[in-house]
Amino acid sequence: MGASSGIGLEVAKLLLADGWHLGIAARREQQLQDLKALAPDCIEVMAIDVTKSDASELLLSLIEKLGGMDLYFHASGIGRQNRTLEPDIELQTMETNAVGFTRMIGTAYRYFAERGGGHIAAITSIAGTKGLGPAPSYSATKALQSSYLQALEQQAHQRSLNIRFTDIRPGFVDTALLNGSFHYPMLMKPETVARDIVRSIYRGRHVRVIDCRYRILTFFWRLIPRWLWRKIKL
Ligand SMILES: NC(=O)c1ccc[n+]([C@@H]2O[C@H](COP(=O)([O-])OP(=O)(O)OC[C@H]3O[C@@H](n4cnc5c(N)ncnc54)[C@H](OP(=O)(O)O)[C@@H]3O)[C@@H](O)[C@H]2O)c1
Repeated sequence: MGASSGIGLEVAKLLLADGWHLGIAARREQQLQDLKALAPDCIEVMAIDVTKSDASELLLSLIEKLGGMDLYFHASGIGRQNRTLEPDIELQTMETNAVGFTRMIGTAYRYFAERGGGHIAAITSIAGTKGLGPAPSYSATKALQSSYLQALEQQAHQRSLNIRFTDIRPGFVDTALLNGSFHYPMLMKPETVARDIVRSIYRGRHVRVIDCRYRILTFFWRLIPRWLWRKIKL
């Protein structure tokens, strides 16, 4: 989900090279068809907008086209800096990253629960580590995504469901999401991040912060007390 550009597209290409039969989805169908053209027999396409109420139904019909699903990978997301708190940006981010995420992850979870198990992997972000002043809805929804995955992981364990979870938290990646409007430090290439993601999925990692520089950064972010965090200029 979210294979039409950026990190999701690169992950899809790697899975394809590894011999997976892929179901790819996002809103921009032409980009998905371009990817399908690389291996028409191994890819099924579905235009899905995760913010729309028919998205669950469409995901289930994509799964049916594929003849089943072993791995659900969620890359769909939006994010903008919003220092003036424009309501449209805040609400659209909530619709996509919170409501849409919950809708799609829930659909995959219930599917796997009924069919004896599977693997759910999602790109959240290091932005969920703390509330970030420049991007309130983005950081808040990324925290929600990580908590939601952790909650489902606990629930699945307690219900003895054989569902594995991988929460992928990259730092800055050079994709359209960053919009090229600002200089971001420690920028990573989507291809490199995608390789780490696929490795982490195969190894069954529960949480993966990408890369090691961001593992150190987020470790220290967590130690910063609230009274000091609010004074830090981001
Ligand atoms: N770039 C970074 O620095 C960074 C860092 C950490 C985490 N992330 C996360 O990584 C994920 C992928 O982002 P990216 O950086 O690869 O940016 P991207 O190139 O903009 O990719 C975003 C993907 O999400 C899809 N999407 C957006 N809204 C959607 C909707 N309503 N329904 C279905 N799909 C939707 C887009 O497809 P359509 O537009 O075709 O629908 C696209 O495939 C996001 O969750 C992002 O938050 C990015």
